[in-house]
Amino acid sequence: MAGAEAATDRAATESSLREGTGDLHASRRARLMERIGPTSAALFAASPERNRSNDTFHAYRPSSDVWYLTGFEEPDAVVLLLPGHDEHPFVLFLRERNLKLEIWDGPRVGVERAREMLGADKAFPISELSEQLPKLLAGRESLHYTLGSNPPMDAEVVKAYRKAIRTARGRARAPTSIIEPGEALHEMRLVKSPEEIDALRRCCAVSAEGHMRGMRTTRPGMTEFELQAEIEHVFYKGGARSPGYPSIVGAGSNACVLHYIENRDTLVDGDIVLVDAGAEVDYYTGDITRTWPVNGEFNGYQRTIYDLVLRAQMEAISLVRPGLPWHEIHECTVHVITEGLIDLGILEGPVEKAIEEKTFRKFFMHGTGHWLGIDVHDVGSYARDGEKSRPLEAGMCFTIEPGIYFHPEEESSPKDFVGIGVRIEDDILVTEDGCEVLTSGAPKEPEEMMEIIGKDA
Ligand code: GLY
Ligand code: MN
Ligand code: MN
Repeated sequence: MAGAEAATDRAATESSLREGTGDLHASRRARLMERIGPTSAALFAASPERNRSNDTFHAYRPSSDVWYLTGFEEPDAVVLLLPGHDEHPFVLFLRERNLKLEIWDGPRVGVERAREMLGADKAFPISELSEQLPKLLAGRESLHYTLGSNPPMDAEVVKAYRKAIRTARGRARAPTSIIEPGEALHEMRLVKSPEEIDALRRCCAVSAEGHMRGMRTTRPGMTEFELQAEIEHVFYKGGARSPGYPSIVGAGSNACVLHYIENRDTLVDGDIVLVDAGAEVDYYTGDITRTWPVNGEFNGYQRTIYDLVLRAQMEAISLVRPGLPWHEIHECTVHVITEGLIDLGILEGPVEKAIEEKTFRKFFMHGTGHWLGIDVHDVGSYARDGEKSRPLEAGMCFTIEPGIYFHPEEESSPKDFVGIGVRIEDDILVTEDGCEVLTSGAPKEPEEMMEIIGKDA
C-alpha cells in the first residue's frame, strides 16, 4: 500500500474507533445517572460474540444499551456507572490492545485510549473485572443490571455482589438489590431525541426504498431469496451494515407463516408475496411489511383481504396523537378486521361477541405493533402503574402492522381464501400534534403498487 493510501486508511480506522467520544453518549450517561441517583450503580455488559461454526463467528453487533450509552462497539466490555463518584463516575472494562490479534481481527481501543476515545473516567482490562468489581460496588445500595440475558456475566455480577456484601459486613453499605434497568434506561430509550428521530427517518427511508426496488424487480419465477437480495442490496447501498432482523419474504401460503425466513421458494404467477424487511442504519432500524401480487394484479379474494387490512391500518394510524392510550391502536385494528370478516361471512357476529370471544385470533393472531428504535422490538413498557396501557407521547416511535392469514392447515380457513396472508406495516413517530409515517416512501395503495410492480424485472 502506498504511503498516502496507508495514511488515509489509518485515519479511517481511527475515526471508526472514535465514535464513542460524542457528547451525545456522555449526556445519556449523565441523564441515566441522574435518574438512578447516587446510592445506585448500573452495569451493562457487551453482548458476547456468537459462534457460527467451528472457528467462524457471526458479525458482531454491540448490545443496544451499551451502544446507546457509549457508542463503544467492541465485545468483552463492561460499562459501570457510579453516579456521584468524585473521580470516576464512568468506569469501562475492555480488551487490552494486542497487535497480533488486531492484525487478524481489527483495531481495539485498549485501556490507555479509553479516556480519550470513549470519555471513560477510569478503564481496566476486562481480565480484572472479578478483582475490581466488588471494590467498585462497595458503598452502593443497589445495582441496575439485566439478569438472565448473559449467564457468564450474571455469575460474575452475583459473585461481585456477594463479595461486596461479605466485605462490608454490615459496617459499610453494599448492594442489597439488583434492579432491572427497564424503568430508568429503557424509559429514556423509549422517547426519542432529535438525533434519534433523524436516524429513524434515515433508516426508514432506506427501508422504504428497498421495498420499492422489491416491487419493481418482482416477476413470476424468481425465488424468494432473489427478491430478498434485490431489497437488501438497497439496504446496504443506503448505509446498512445489516437488516435490523432477518428479512421475511414469503410467497403464496408462506405468507401465512409469521416468522418465515427460509425464503427459498419460487414466486408463482397469481400468488401474492409478503415482505417484512427493514434496514439497520447507524444502529436504528426500520420495520416495514408490504404485500403485493407477483404478477402485478390482485385477484378478487386477495384484493378483498388486502383492502380490509389496509383499512384497519389506516384507521389506526389516523388515531395516533399524544395522549392516545397505546391499547386503543390494537382495539381499532381488531374492530375493523373482525367486522370485515363478519361481513364476508368468515366469522360469526355480532362484532362485540366475536371480539369478546376472540374468534378473530384464528386469522389475526398477533399484536398490532411494538416500539421501534435501536432494536426492532425496542425497549420500554407498554403499560404503567397497573393500568391497561400507557398514553402515547411525542417522540415515541412504533409500528402499526395488522394482518390476516388463512393458513392452509387451519381448518376454519375459508376455502376461497386458503393460503392468502396479508400484513401491512408502517413505522410511526408520535409528533406534538399527531404523527409522522416514517415509511410512507413504500407504496401501499394497490393502484400505486400496480404502477411499479415488475417494471424493472
Ligand atoms: N419484523 C418483525 C416485526 O414486524 O415485528
Ligand atoms: Mn414489526
Ligand atoms: Mn416487521
